[in-house]
Amino acid sequence: MVKTEHPTAERGHARANREAPQPGTSLPPIQPVLRSLNPDIAPGRNGQNPVHLPTTTPTEQSPQGPAIHAELAAEQHVLSTEDFKLHYGKHRALHGITMQIPAGKVTALIGPSGCGKSTLLRSFNRLNDLIENVRVEGRIRFQGQDIHDRKVDVIRLRKKMGMVFQKSNPFPMSILENVVYALRIGGERRRRVLDEVCEKSLRSAALWDEVKDRLHTSALGMSGGQQQRLCIARAIAAEPEVLLMDEPCSALDPIATGKVEELIYALRGKYTVVIVTHNMQQAARVSDYTAFMYMGRLVEYGPTNSIFVNPHLKETESYVTGRFG
Ligand SMILES: Nc1ncnc2c1ncn2[C@@H]1O[C@H](COP(=O)(O)OP(=O)(O)O)[C@@H](O)[C@H]1O
Ligand SMILES: [Mg+2]
Repeated sequence: MVKTEHPTAERGHARANREAPQPGTSLPPIQPVLRSLNPDIAPGRNGQNPVHLPTTTPTEQSPQGPAIHAELAAEQHVLSTEDFKLHYGKHRALHGITMQIPAGKVTALIGPSGCGKSTLLRSFNRLNDLIENVRVEGRIRFQGQDIHDRKVDVIRLRKKMGMVFQKSNPFPMSILENVVYALRIGGERRRRVLDEVCEKSLRSAALWDEVKDRLHTSALGMSGGQQQRLCIARAIAAEPEVLLMDEPCSALDPIATGKVEELIYALRGKYTVVIVTHNMQQAARVSDYTAFMYMGRLVEYGPTNSIFVNPHLKETESYVTGRFG
């Protein structure tokens, strides 16, 4: 159930890698966070956990709106939403989200299935534009600019906000060509430039040492965990500011998950990372800030440790201690 171990196999790579952000990048142990949760209400104790699903939405219970912790005000923000709403046809999936994403930090979006995490993530780089009948209200700003402004070049926006999906999606081509794909599309043909970007990106994705001798072989021959890190390398090669990750580890085994988590942790500082996860231990391990969403609303948002150990709202406590979701 609650996994307290964390695979450490790849720490050496992340540490030895000059391109990746350096000191203090090893993951903090999960045990203190879990131990500090009230053992009486920790998930699965004695098999007699009442599954308690709130019958009203959290914002109805908290009429003052979401609980945003004060620490967020001290951060520099790269991305923000203002009363952002999204409808799929008649169905409203996001009910007016106002939040700010701190630059250079890892922010986790958590909440039960269907609460709008992926929808919000896809809104940040306008991937929802590709879905029919989507209607949005409110604002999203990236580096101060309204992303729905007519002047915005959506392709450029998506380059600045790279996306990594649940299921890794390497292209059926060599490892090298996967990594430099964005450059190729941009017309880059100089061998030296392509090789340099390839090495730098693979190092940043903590994958270089594993694949440097087979850059010209098919990416489809890699393991699942390697493919996911390749997709991160491909996103990095496009020189993004923000990396959006939607449950990037959910198709991976624990060892591969550990490697990707190490990588996400090491990317902080250099990139702003927003990661959707339904795995609360993962959120606790890799993120600086955590936003808890429920039924299309932001409920509580603050430093990860506070959200897990000392949440302000009862709804958040119920969720992080496994009482519903
Ligand atoms: N392409 C879509 N078309 C219609 N409804 C959608 C679509 N994607 C998601 N939804 C609906 O929007 C809500 C939020 O979904 P989603 O963002 O996928 O939640 P989460 O990622 O938290 O599981 C759900 O009710 C879901 O059914
Ligand atoms: Mg989702």
